[in-house]
Amino acid sequence: MSLEDVTREKWATRIGFILAAVGSAVGLGNIWRFPFQVGQEGGAAFLVIYLLFVGLIGIPAMLVEFVVGRRSERNPINAFDRLGHGEWRFVGALGVFTGFVILAFYSVVAGWVTRYTFASLTGAYFGEPSVYFNSIAEGPAAIGFHALFMVATAVIVAAGIQRGIELAVKVMVPALLALLVGLIGYAFTLEGAAEGYQYYLSPEIGVIASNWMSILPAAAGQAFFTLSLGMGVMITYASYLGEDRNLAVDGGWIAALNTLVSILAGLVVFPVLFTIGVEPGSGGAGELFVGVGGAIAQVPGSRLVGFVFFGVVVIAALSSAISILEVLVSYAIDNYGMERKKATAVISSVVFLVGIPTAIDLDVLNLYDQITASLLLPLGVFLTVVFVGWVYPDSAEEVAKGTSKGSDGTLPTAWLWYIRIPILLVVGLVLVISAIDLYGTLTDMFL
Ligand code: PHE
Repeated sequence: MSLEDVTREKWATRIGFILAAVGSAVGLGNIWRFPFQVGQEGGAAFLVIYLLFVGLIGIPAMLVEFVVGRRSERNPINAFDRLGHGEWRFVGALGVFTGFVILAFYSVVAGWVTRYTFASLTGAYFGEPSVYFNSIAEGPAAIGFHALFMVATAVIVAAGIQRGIELAVKVMVPALLALLVGLIGYAFTLEGAAEGYQYYLSPEIGVIASNWMSILPAAAGQAFFTLSLGMGVMITYASYLGEDRNLAVDGGWIAALNTLVSILAGLVVFPVLFTIGVEPGSGGAGELFVGVGGAIAQVPGSRLVGFVFFGVVVIAALSSAISILEVLVSYAIDNYGMERKKATAVISSVVFLVGIPTAIDLDVLNLYDQITASLLLPLGVFLTVVFVGWVYPDSAEEVAKGTSKGSDGTLPTAWLWYIRIPILLVVGLVLVISAIDLYGTLTDMFL
């Protein structure tokens, strides 16, 4: 659709918007990244801080992106022009760049999941889950599956059949929940279950107090990553949203559903890890594959269960990858008058190339992940909040739309002051810590 169109397409139904946003939010961030971060940051202490971040920072920050999107009815870069502040375009551009880098390694991880879907049919990873993971995570095969996933994403975006994905999400989210609940039932019977729950669910204040410097940026990064914030996806989706919708209510639903999926994934992974004697945290990026793969290997009908489970995760990853690629493609179409198919082919090829190093070396994948999740996403959120909180004058008015409660302006005004000061302070602190952290990682890696 061109920039000048007066009547912009709108979501047909309220549920259409929520589903698409949930489809973007629910993905590898919940099922792969979340358990791996919990493991790396020492368990329940991380869980608590993460939940606080989602509720206290994530949801208000999602409203910020909704305001920019619905008010401007534009893609993340042009949105700032439309709101009369072209000098803020760089914030949209930063988001688009971040999305580009995320998609590059996201597709590699999704490639592993694709491989596991097929490997389930032969039971290839059942015998020795960790050995199998290590054998497929890096190298030519990982590049091949990365290519396969990127092609699938590109085909859907090129055909402009996001509507089909909306439908798939309708089936997929309930299917994913049902499968996770089934696997939780199985994990509950394992001998390591008690230890797993203890690790995952019973936080020690001492751990938070002594490790906050590393937990804080990790939790913030995970919250933004999983809610698809900081890179313009929610700006884009809200640009199709009607005025009758209440942004806070919709945002609350999206965050709640998304968080539920993550919590359930943890309830499968940790009991299994303790049962098979893998120290959480030592699994790193392979935690999901070893943890859930190990559980699936034991349940009756394991080949079918594995096929369905990993297959559903592939679809979840697809609906997230599409949301990122769509932002990049629609930007190229709107601003450079490129044809959709051509734009998709060019952009996805470049994303594929940029992802190759992460398919060759896990350390590079972790580096891409750290740079984007802990630094670029919080930076994008921070700048968008500055704009919506301090620069753009009508933000509270936009949030008040579609609501009967708070239409006198008290709630929107409270939100405005909340994002103006507390949120900026916390996200600002996260940025400072992350920058120091990243400097450490880079000097370790290259010096
Ligand atoms: N939220 C998605 C997930 O958790 C990933 C994503 C991040 C999608 C950023 C869009 C933007 O898998």
